[in-house]
Amino acid sequence: MAKGSSQSGTVITLTGFASAGGPRSHLAVVGPRSLASMSSIASTERPGAKPSLRVNGTDHPISLDRDRSLLYVLREELGLTGTKYGCGEGECGACKVLVDGVAVRSCKTPVGEAVGRSIVTIEGLAQGDRLHPVQQAFIDAGAFQCGFCTPGMIMAAVSLLSRSPRPPEDEIRAAMDGNVCRCGGYLRIIDAVQKASSLSHGAGGTP
Ligand code: FES
Ligand code: FES
Repeated sequence: MAKGSSQSGTVITLTGFASAGGPRSHLAVVGPRSLASMSSIASTERPGAKPSLRVNGTDHPISLDRDRSLLYVLREELGLTGTKYGCGEGECGACKVLVDGVAVRSCKTPVGEAVGRSIVTIEGLAQGDRLHPVQQAFIDAGAFQCGFCTPGMIMAAVSLLSRSPRPPEDEIRAAMDGNVCRCGGYLRIIDAVQKASSLSHGAGGTP
């Protein structure tokens, strides 16, 4: 991954999903544009209400310091360490969680913007002993080595399948391109998303 600058944001050269299985590289612009898209998650907190965070179906009171990142609160205050801290700069996707069903980078999401929303982390996907179809597909496809990127990959895949239950490969590559796997397991990850798609038309639904 190489890095440079432009007026519209940081330009990062990724040899990820866009080039897996071929010689192409891919340019992704992150920074201002990514932050702008995240700001569309507006807070619905009522004035005067005590802030709490609804995570995996449970409400958790949080402090009034609303400038902390959602990732920090999930990991350090709620102990939900399945969501990973990778780059901390919105570039790797390791920290993705679902906010109202949409995968967002929690390292760049102020916790105040998540108040009043439904948050799902990797810990909230399984139903008791039964894995979510996307989790099962990642196991069946052997789509991980060290596993560090896997929670963010799975959340991105769940988000994709919730809006597009049978995505073609190009759509999978495009949707997952913001997620980096340092072990280079892109082809197996694509296979896992395809397996999840065929396991269940409703694979993308949050429990
Ligand atoms: Fe959030 Fe890398 S840790 S994008
Ligand atoms: Fe190691 Fe993706 S499996 S970073």
